[in-house]
Amino acid sequence: TINGIDFAVADLSLAEWGRNEIRLAEHEMPGLMALREEYGETKPLKGARISGSLHMTIQTAVLIETLVALGAEVRWASCNIFSTQDHAAAAVVVGPNGTKDAPAGTPVYAWKGESLQEYWWCTEQMLTWPGEGPNMILDDGGDATLLVHKGVEFEKAGAVPAADENDPDEWKVFLELLRVSLAEEPKKWTNLASDIKGVTEETTTGVHRLYQLAEAGELLFPAINVNDAVTKSKFDNKYGCRHSLIDGINRATDTLIGGKTAVICGYGDVGKGSAESLRGQGARVIVTEIDPICALQAAMDGYQVATLDDVIDQADIIITTTGNKDVITIDHMVKMKHQAIVGNIGHFDNEIQIAELERYPGVKRVNIKPQVDEWTFPDGHSIIVLSEGRLLNLGNATGHPSFVMSNSFSDQTIAQIELFTKQGQYGTDTVHLLPKHLDEKVARIHLEALGGKLTKLSKDQAEYIGVDVEGPYKPEHYRY
Ligand code: NAI
Repeated sequence: TINGIDFAVADLSLAEWGRNEIRLAEHEMPGLMALREEYGETKPLKGARISGSLHMTIQTAVLIETLVALGAEVRWASCNIFSTQDHAAAAVVVGPNGTKDAPAGTPVYAWKGESLQEYWWCTEQMLTWPGEGPNMILDDGGDATLLVHKGVEFEKAGAVPAADENDPDEWKVFLELLRVSLAEEPKKWTNLASDIKGVTEETTTGVHRLYQLAEAGELLFPAINVNDAVTKSKFDNKYGCRHSLIDGINRATDTLIGGKTAVICGYGDVGKGSAESLRGQGARVIVTEIDPICALQAAMDGYQVATLDDVIDQADIIITTTGNKDVITIDHMVKMKHQAIVGNIGHFDNEIQIAELERYPGVKRVNIKPQVDEWTFPDGHSIIVLSEGRLLNLGNATGHPSFVMSNSFSDQTIAQIELFTKQGQYGTDTVHLLPKHLDEKVARIHLEALGGKLTKLSKDQAEYIGVDVEGPYKPEHYRY
């Protein structure tokens, strides 16, 4: 704690660099800046105490400072061990008006390269406020929501279950943290959960967890699915990955992509952007899918659709984008070409069987540089694994650029305002979407910033197609 702000970041002296990049990012984030303009006076988030778990990048810094400008108090952690940009974390702690010796910003618990123990410790610190606890959660991937829900569940049961020997390390660490907390403070998570007015969730994987909780009747507070705002998933997941996938591969390996054979596993929003990213560099792209609709889309877009088993011996680059587990197995890795590049851009690392790779008899690991490992098999062939199978666009590069994140984070900010100011209007029986007129508002701001000019509907035309002149312009079932 310095100057009343508690935090855990790598190095506060990076704050000036971070502040300079935040300043440049603000210009590229017109949605967030427009929200500051619109709500800076009325401060609709006054009284909100937001615990945020989301990649601690420069773009996230602009989000955090927007929430603060709208009246909120905030505490933050990253939702991934490799995704923090240390200069961004430092700048947020120092704040726009502080210095490194007298920080005056927001508490952050995040640094690049956390251990799993440190990761969950940071997540707990972010949820543990000095006075009153949080009343809002902003989540990416659902780890903060998971911690609160499992904490409440185990407190109710009066015990934390023992980990299975085969459980992933991450789960073992998670259970241990809750075991300690149950012993020290038996009602910690129950008390904390009772004050939470809602959670807004950023990504496909976290949203999936929320729907499972709602369907089981176990959701403890209302939730907005930010991911499926059109201005989020159809932009960040797609165009964001189109930008940041090759950024990660290039920074990690600097291998020429043109002329190579690349396999993209999954052709959802992230897969579509990722395939285009590699095709744009001249790679021959092959897509794998389990869903015939997405597979047909890939075929229509000109990609070969195949199974990983059938093409594994041809692939130079293999990237998972599925949000599913065990997509690249150890059997695949054994059969890969020498120096094939293996990476994941989906939320969790279990898309690739890293644990099985580590256990493979006779395999050797050489760390080439941070977040780049060469794994050599006993037969002499090696594969290059990026970010230990964690999302490589954030581990090996700096994630999505500001402009696309301005869309996502405007949706986040609006969702926080919705849940915080309309308490009682959103139930826990389902997960809610942002109202469509707000989605259109976010798109409008960003279109204007790009110099695009919208055609205006006449009243007559609006009546003819059955919409209001001011929107929404599409029915709920429209798919974009
Ligand atoms: P999505 O649901 O639109 O796409 C996933 C696709 O993978 C689906 O079409 C599904 O049919 C397919 N799939 C599932 N299992 C498969 C298998 N075994 N083999 C081949 N294909 C399979 O989800 P979206 O939005 O594309 O997100 C994917 C993942 O990326 C999620 O974990 C999400 O949280 C994450 N994400 C990561 C971002 C990043 O910056 N790295 C940005 C946005 C999302």
